[in-house]
Amino acid sequence: MDRIFNFSAGPSVLPVPVLQTAGKEMLNYHGYGLSVMEMSHRSKAYEEIIEGAESSLRKLMHIPNNYKVLFLQGGATLQFSMIPLNLMKKNQQADFLITGNWANKAYLEAKKFGDAQIIASSKDQNFSYIPKTQKSDFRETADYVHICVNNTIYGTRFKPNGLPDIGNLDLIADMSSNILSEEYDVSKFALIYAGAQKNMGPAGVTVVIIRDDLIGQASIDTPTYLDYKIHADADSMYNTPACYSIYVCGLVFKWLENLGGIPAIEEINKNKAQKLYDYIDNSDFYIGTAKTEDRSLMNVPFICKNSDLNAAFIAEAEKKGLQNLKGHRSIGGMRASIYNAMPVEGIDALILFMQDFAKRNH
Ligand SMILES: Cc1ncc(COP(=O)(O)O)c(C=O)c1O
Repeated sequence: MDRIFNFSAGPSVLPVPVLQTAGKEMLNYHGYGLSVMEMSHRSKAYEEIIEGAESSLRKLMHIPNNYKVLFLQGGATLQFSMIPLNLMKKNQQADFLITGNWANKAYLEAKKFGDAQIIASSKDQNFSYIPKTQKSDFRETADYVHICVNNTIYGTRFKPNGLPDIGNLDLIADMSSNILSEEYDVSKFALIYAGAQKNMGPAGVTVVIIRDDLIGQASIDTPTYLDYKIHADADSMYNTPACYSIYVCGLVFKWLENLGGIPAIEEINKNKAQKLYDYIDNSDFYIGTAKTEDRSLMNVPFICKNSDLNAAFIAEAEKKGLQNLKGHRSIGGMRASIYNAMPVEGIDALILFMQDFAKRNH
C-alpha cells in the first residue's frame, strides 16, 4: 500500500525526509553502532541529540536567552496541572479564555489549585469563534492568563497579531496544535507549552518554553517531577527523558530549518489553508464551521450541507487514501488537520475528492 494522506489531528503526519532519516539511522546512529532507542540518555551521543534539538528550536522560534526550553513527559495534559502548581502562587488567581475543550480542561484543572476565573468563552456558539476581550476584563491581581492558541477540535486560532491585550499580566499559551506553524513572538508569553505529536514529532514529549523568573515558585510539597525548577536545573535530564521522541523532534526542527524556518513554512501553511477554505467557501455543498476571521491554519472543520452525507464522505475518502477526516465527536462532520508536514498534494487530493463527492451527491 502507498502512503496515505493522513489528516489525523494527532498523532499526525510527519515529514517523509524525517522518517527516511530515522529509518536510515535506526540500526546504527552516526556510526555509534546502536539505535537512538538503545542509547543511554547520559551518553555523549545522546547529549548532542538533545542539545541539538534545543538549539534548533531556539533558532526557529527566536527564543530569548531568558527562557528555558524543557522537554517533559505527561503530554500537554500534565501541563494543565503543572502550570497552576508552579505559577498560581502570588494571589492564587488565574484568568482563562475558554475557546474549546482543551482550554476548558486547563481551566478545570487550575480550579483545583486556586481561584480560576473564566473571563470570556465562545461556548455559546459551539466554540466557532475567538471571543473578544479588553484589558479591563482581566483581573490585575491574576497570577497569569491562560489561552489555547489553536483550537484543534473547532479550528479556530488566536492570530499572532490577535493575542488578548492583558497589560502586564503573564500570558500562558497552549500551542500544542500550532507551534512552529507561523511566527509568534515568544517574548509576549510567560510560558508556551505543546505536546509534540502534531507539529514536532512522535507523542511522548512535551515542550515547555518558560521565562526563567517564573521558575522556582513551587511549594516544598510539590511532587518533585512536577516542579519546573527540577527540570530546568537538570537540563531536562532529571530522569530519563523521552529519548527517541526528542531525537525525531530534532530531525523535524532541522527539516524546518532547511526549508527556511518558520517564515517559509508559514507561507506554505497559509497557501495550503487558503486553498481549502477557498474551495469550501465557493462550494454550495460544504460549510466551514469556524468563523472566517478566526480560522486555524492547521485544523479545518467542515460539514456537508446535507449532514446525512457526512458519514459517506468519510468512508469514501478513506478508501481513496484520504484518512482520519472524521471530526471530533463534540462537533461531528469532518476535520482536515493540515499540519506542517501535510504536503500540498494532500490538499489537492482532498479538494479533488470533495469536488467529485459533491458532483455525485448533489
Ligand atoms: C490544543 C491541545 N491541547 C492539549 C491537548 C492534549 O494533549 P496531550 O494528549 O499531549 O496531553 C491536545 C490534544 O490533542 C490539544 O490539541
